Amino acid sequence: MKPSAHTDSKPQQQARAGSLIAALEEIQARHGYLPQKALLELHKRTGASLVDIYGVATFYRAFSLKPRGKHLVSVCLGTACHVNRAPVVAREVERLLDIKAGDTTNDREFTLETVNCLGACALGPVVVVDGHYFPAVSPAKVSEILQSSRDGLNNVTVETDQRVFPLAVACARCNHSLMDPTHPIDGHPSIRVTAAFDSKHGWVALSCLYGSYNVDNEYEIPEDVVVNMFCPHCHAELLGGGTCLECGAPMVPMIVRGGGIVQICSRRGCRGHMLDVSGAIFA
Ligand code: FES
Repeated sequence: MKPSAHTDSKPQQQARAGSLIAALEEIQARHGYLPQKALLELHKRTGASLVDIYGVATFYRAFSLKPRGKHLVSVCLGTACHVNRAPVVAREVERLLDIKAGDTTNDREFTLETVNCLGACALGPVVVVDGHYFPAVSPAKVSEILQSSRDGLNNVTVETDQRVFPLAVACARCNHSLMDPTHPIDGHPSIRVTAAFDSKHGWVALSCLYGSYNVDNEYEIPEDVVVNMFCPHCHAELLGGGTCLECGAPMVPMIVRGGGIVQICSRRGCRGHMLDVSGAIFA
């Protein structure tokens, strides 16, 4: 890989960033973080500039320059969460884990970070553990959240879990509802879109519960494949949501009925999602 050249075309820049992300993912998977030595080796091996390498490494939240614990706890201290006592919640996490924000517990179980906004301001204070959103967290709830993280957050009981709540969404282009009551998932109408990947083109039904990753589809989508999603009504591609902070794939935006936007990562298996529901009314 050549060092950055200002004369590169946009596709060339995107290809270079893509291969850099893949190389960093490999290093992160091997070490659990990005050791400085490994980044210097990457620089020597590929010729990518250190500015580019550190730029990508610090932009995506999936990468870490410091060793991380098994579970990443992010406490939002943005304005909306702050006024709802988020600092007290953060202090309670620090007290129970006996670490400060930015640190990792000695047993490497938890890393704690504070962030400025997670895009779900109406639900504050918000805590995210390993990509799972916990809304309206009180200090008394913190120990329960940490315990459920230890027990495994992927085991969601959708009927009772506070991390999941239903959203009704529409196409950002034609405003037509994407809800499909004839194909319920998790006991709620699913979100129906059309998905294209490889040479396949078929329907996908997503759970409308924010926090549930249950999905049904016409064609099985292999893990890690990035799909293009389309509105089944106006056939416009659901695009324009930027890129996933976890993996760099394009985000798929949808309008939340009642106000706000939800974005989901287009990569199968990635749990990157973002919710901005300022003033929203939930389904
Ligand atoms: S301020 Fe906390 S989610 Fe926006």
